[in-house]
Amino acid sequence: MAYENIRVEKRDGIAIVTIDRPKVLNALSTKTFHELADAFAGLSDDREVAAVILTGGGEKAFVAGADISEFLGFTPDDAREYGRLGWRTMLLIDRLGKPVIAAINGFALGGGLELAMSCTFRYAAENAKLGQPEVKLGLTPGFGGTQRLTRLVGKGRALEMLLTGDPIGAAEALRIGLVNKVLPAAELMAECEKTAKTIAKRGPLAVRYCLEVAHSGLNVSFEEGLEMEAGVFGLAFATEDFREGVTAFNEKREARFKGK
Ligand code: CAA
Repeated sequence: MAYENIRVEKRDGIAIVTIDRPKVLNALSTKTFHELADAFAGLSDDREVAAVILTGGGEKAFVAGADISEFLGFTPDDAREYGRLGWRTMLLIDRLGKPVIAAINGFALGGGLELAMSCTFRYAAENAKLGQPEVKLGLTPGFGGTQRLTRLVGKGRALEMLLTGDPIGAAEALRIGLVNKVLPAAELMAECEKTAKTIAKRGPLAVRYCLEVAHSGLNVSFEEGLEMEAGVFGLAFATEDFREGVTAFNEKREARFKGK
């Protein structure tokens, strides 16, 4: 599939996906969602790619939200289908089986913040502004914002953002745990790449198992979560990567993992 609204670059075991419609602050049109879904389905299967960075084109925005210009033409049924396309695409990103780092290089509003929250974790530029402004349009978030924000920052803080619709700055996002790091804009991508490359050096199966258990464990009791963790801990002992990791430790050298 040839892409018009996104760009995908691959190098050194990582992929960089850029939503690239800076004239509309990278707003998420239906077409953009289809392109993102296609790209991430490919990256999920791509054994050369160990980690992904998701960012926005231009200087001003990660993503300023759903593409509002499509809204007045939607019937309620169209809107429901658009919402489903959005949350399904974001769930694909959330459950990719490899980490996706959001590089928030400006506005992350509405669907843009929902997209960033579907990533594994987030780094932000100092000029970033994050918010769920849907109530200002007489709307609710439609791609999981009410669910992911409450889980990430707690119900009280999430509801303050959801009900006022007002954005917060990068420093406040760091303080409440919505982003993991804040960097000068010029250093954001380099820091994301550094972390992505660090993860790319780790055992790929172990990384995947960590992601799987961290996600699945949130939907079950604590004891069931511990049981799931014991399951993948045992499974890891069946992998070549585990033998290589422990052998490399004993031989005081870097491990050469194969994802087997
Ligand atoms: N959809 C479509 N176009 C958008 C857009 C969006 N979400 N956000 C910005 N644009 C367009 C603007 O219309 C403008 O286009 P023109 O040049 O043709 O007028 C262009 O991008 C540049 O934007 P501004 O001139 O407004 O830039 P600014 O710096 O003055 O303001 C902003 C920036 C505060 C982010 C402002 O653009 C804004 O408030 N955008 C909308 C944010 C928003 O409400 N997002 C939530 C959308 S609803 C949603 O996401 C629902 C969901 O969860 C499913």
